Amino acid sequence: MAAPAPVLAGRYTLSSILGEGAYGVVAAAFDSVKGDKVAVKRIRSVLETYPMAVRILREVKFNRLLRGHENLVQLRDLLLPSDVRTFQDTFLVFDVMPCDLSKVINSQARLNSDNIKFLMFQLLRGLLYLHRADVLHRDLKPSNLLVDSDCLLKICDLGLARAAFRTDEDDVYFWTTYVQTRWYRAPELVMPHSTNYTTAIDIWAAGCIFAELFLRRPLFPGKDHEDQVRRIIRLTGKPGPDVISRLRHTSMEALVAKQPPSPPLDWARLFPKATVEELQLMRGMLEFDPLKRLTAADALRHPYFAEWRESLGVGPAPPVLEAKDFEFETRVAARNPAAMDAIRAEMVSEIAEFHPDRKEELLGAAGIGAHPPSSGHLQAPDQHKEFSDALDGGNEVRKRNNLTMPLPVFGRVAASQVRSQVGVRSGTLPESQMAALAAAQRERNSRAADAMQD
Ligand SMILES: Nc1ncnc2c1ncn2[C@@H]1O[C@H](COP(=O)(O)OP(=O)(O)OP(=O)(O)O)[C@@H](O)[C@H]1O
Ligand SMILES: [Mg+2]
Repeated sequence: MAAPAPVLAGRYTLSSILGEGAYGVVAAAFDSVKGDKVAVKRIRSVLETYPMAVRILREVKFNRLLRGHENLVQLRDLLLPSDVRTFQDTFLVFDVMPCDLSKVINSQARLNSDNIKFLMFQLLRGLLYLHRADVLHRDLKPSNLLVDSDCLLKICDLGLARAAFRTDEDDVYFWTTYVQTRWYRAPELVMPHSTNYTTAIDIWAAGCIFAELFLRRPLFPGKDHEDQVRRIIRLTGKPGPDVISRLRHTSMEALVAKQPPSPPLDWARLFPKATVEELQLMRGMLEFDPLKRLTAADALRHPYFAEWRESLGVGPAPPVLEAKDFEFETRVAARNPAAMDAIRAEMVSEIAEFHPDRKEELLGAAGIGAHPPSSGHLQAPDQHKEFSDALDGGNEVRKRNNLTMPLPVFGRVAASQVRSQVGVRSGTLPESQMAALAAAQRERNSRAADAMQD
């Protein structure tokens, strides 16, 4: 007889594996306290290296600070570690969705033009929220977009996100992931260690995803950065010298400049099923020049989305993020020897945000601030182990449960059907500092978002 499914933190019973990324295994579980299903993401060795620690702190902080938008997955819980002073694994509990968009694209599931429009509307709506908060997602790709059979979409995986007001010169961790996610990178971000980029990079990625929904394969599957650039230019045409010089990256400028002159491809032939409106929008999102590329607000204002915009609006305004929430990045950049301890303390503070009733105990156990020191133990050491083991290959529970989730079957999406599920709210704009270019783009987003809310 199969062993009973493991239970995490006394409340989350493992049911199946939902997906796996480069950093986390994500499992569906039943939450006996709230009586619904959740997604539990386990990330290993969180505090072993700076890059990993930064990734997880970013994911947790952005998720916590930016809660409250329907098109962004919600972080519900961050589990207490067994021992505050030595823990390495972290468990994040999110709202669950049955599937991600890469699985849909790679399946036989039919995607009609209504489905594509509604998916893109929600993706841009989620992006508008992030961009109005001055946050760049930086890792948009189909596997980071969660969907269900009502065609609802939520952006997930904020591990590479970044506040636009941070201006650290180099972001080592981000560039170590550059090989994995090249296909969706905007021209100004294709080369390693580019620094001259803005929220427009996410619109490029969204444009690639828009195209992929029609093609059912990636638009620019570059083998290396040169191949990536060649493929992009083949579709968009070679940009003029002014656009090239604005790339402000010597080797990228040289690479683009040496490409043979080429007019843009015939987009209508490449996307025979796309309408004139769809092609126009796609071209605006896949504009080589980030200054001319559409913003999220520009795209949402397109007549293509009129029906959805009228029934759902563009969603709430985000909160203002503060620089102090991202000080840890400065410490990491400085390679301060005490940085790892500081990151552990910061991680514990984040955990405490989700456990207000045990905050004193938690901060005390970690030796943070004025809290009285206590033992580092918070719960039985094997509380997490059984669940964690089940997420690893070869385990009985995993074998038993590793059934593929049924793919959603998309029907026609009716605005009235969704309106009842998604609230329409309004709000004020955030105030924050940004470099001139980013500020101009944010301005455009904000003005348009306001106009749409009026
Ligand atoms: N809340 C959720 N509901 C359902 N499935 C999810 C959820 N979160 C993640 N998944 C699934 O797990 C996969 C991995 O999750 P996620 O992207 O967060 O992990 P990662 O290791 O950070 O990924 P990456 O390889 O993109 O860096 C997703 O592609 C998706 O299939
Ligand atoms: Mg991912």
